[in-house]
Amino acid sequence: MTNLRDLYKCSVCGNVVEIVHPGAPALVCCNQPMEKLEAKTQDAGNEKHVPVIVPGEAGIVVKVGSVEHPMEEKHSIRFIEVLTKEQVLRAELVPGQKPMAEFPVKQPEVIEVREYCNIHGLWKK
Ligand SMILES: [Fe+2]
Repeated sequence: MTNLRDLYKCSVCGNVVEIVHPGAPALVCCNQPMEKLEAKTQDAGNEKHVPVIVPGEAGIVVKVGSVEHPMEEKHSIRFIEVLTKEQVLRAELVPGQKPMAEFPVKQPEVIEVREYCNIHGLWKK
């Protein structure tokens, strides 16, 4: 059984999908099971992926990460999500943008913040 809000990736074509209603025990893409993305929480190398939350004008601003992550064509943050009890807010990013986004939520409502790097995968705070 899949779980609400879980993210899966196809290791062949790179498709990433999010569960918005749980159902089948497995997802298949390119004729093979998709891999569930497990969010990492600790940076090790020079590149920083763990999202950082700072106050914004209308809510919170999420930055990736403590050192600004590259936003190049081949390596960039593709989306940032803020999870509350009842909502998933997603900002879709493109190369050339800053690796950050503002979300209209109050910080106490935030359960989790996560981001996806096309090379280094899923990270959360
Ligand atoms: Fe990365």
